[in-house]
Amino acid sequence: MKGLIAAGGRGTRLRPITTNRNKHTIPLVNKTMIEHAVEKLAQAGIREIGITINEGDTELSQILGDGSRYGVDITYIEQTGGALGVAHVIHNARQFLGEEDFVFYLGDNIILGDINEFIQVFYQDKLNALLALSIVKDPERFGVPRIESGRIVEVIEKPDNPPSQYAVAGIYIYDKNILSIVEELQPSSRGEYEISDAHTALINKGFEVGYAEITGWWKDTGKPQDLLEGNQLLLSQLKESSIQGQIEHTVTVEGIVVLEQGAFVKGNSFIRGPVIIGKDSIIEDSYIGPYTSIGVNCNIKGAEIEHSLLMNDNTIHSSKRIVDSILGNSVRITNKEHTFPTGHKLVIGDNSQVEL
Ligand code: G1P
Repeated sequence: MKGLIAAGGRGTRLRPITTNRNKHTIPLVNKTMIEHAVEKLAQAGIREIGITINEGDTELSQILGDGSRYGVDITYIEQTGGALGVAHVIHNARQFLGEEDFVFYLGDNIILGDINEFIQVFYQDKLNALLALSIVKDPERFGVPRIESGRIVEVIEKPDNPPSQYAVAGIYIYDKNILSIVEELQPSSRGEYEISDAHTALINKGFEVGYAEITGWWKDTGKPQDLLEGNQLLLSQLKESSIQGQIEHTVTVEGIVVLEQGAFVKGNSFIRGPVIIGKDSIIEDSYIGPYTSIGVNCNIKGAEIEHSLLMNDNTIHSSKRIVDSILGNSVRITNKEHTFPTGHKLVIGDNSQVEL
């Protein structure tokens, strides 16, 4: 069985975080989303993985290389003609896929637990396609199945009136029959080759389309709030503390804390896990509260930060409490100097969100 990961796209709903980066390079618990996806497939015993990337993209190969670090063999597949929809990703990867069964994984999905149980159902039930379903509050954001007598009879993409509470998650298993189906698809009204239309076409042609329900947690990280939730979820999965950096005896530590190499927590600091603090970051006289990830080489002094996702090279020298926040790379937040004019001084890019 092969693996195919969709990791292209523009991530417009995650701007400004994605203004200058592929969204799959966003770190959750200090590991990029694409690495989480590759590890998920590797855990399922998949060795040959194709990753669909935007034309000319080198960001992902810089992170993953040939995959040997993860025990897999990675082939990068450029998405020619731009982002034309999820079904087009399969069509675009047809040479890599050949005639083998494969797991198709949308790289911005986060799922707890492994995907082996889905693979088992696929083979036990002799399916041509298996869809992973999850009950959600807002099915209208997703592909939604209509289920009658325990069988999926249709899948509708982003329906105004969802026929069930289920979302089709971005984790699918197929045999080779999906390839001829995606070849015959017509673009939808939003100009995309919809994976939901491919599923309905499979059903209409008499192929076996089954499903398995995701009982644990699943998240499609489409919006900034989803990143925080995903990060929180993954932090809550940390089993034990790991202290590779240094903690001064004056510091209070509670709960599960991961301190990477070269990180230094000092002075009158209080770290309440689950928290991860990245390589070479320095935390001084600060409170770092639950569900916070701090990336590499950050410098935090006199601050209070909770339930937040900080990427790399940030400087936070501010006594204002920072909560529910996402900071990209090289962000500076400092106390204002006592100079006129008073007020908040901001240098903020397009599509940023600030609550003052
Ligand atoms: C895509 C699929 C949709 C699926 C979702 C899962 O939507 O088109 O059917 O439910 O992924 O993450 P998108 O996130 O591209 O809007």
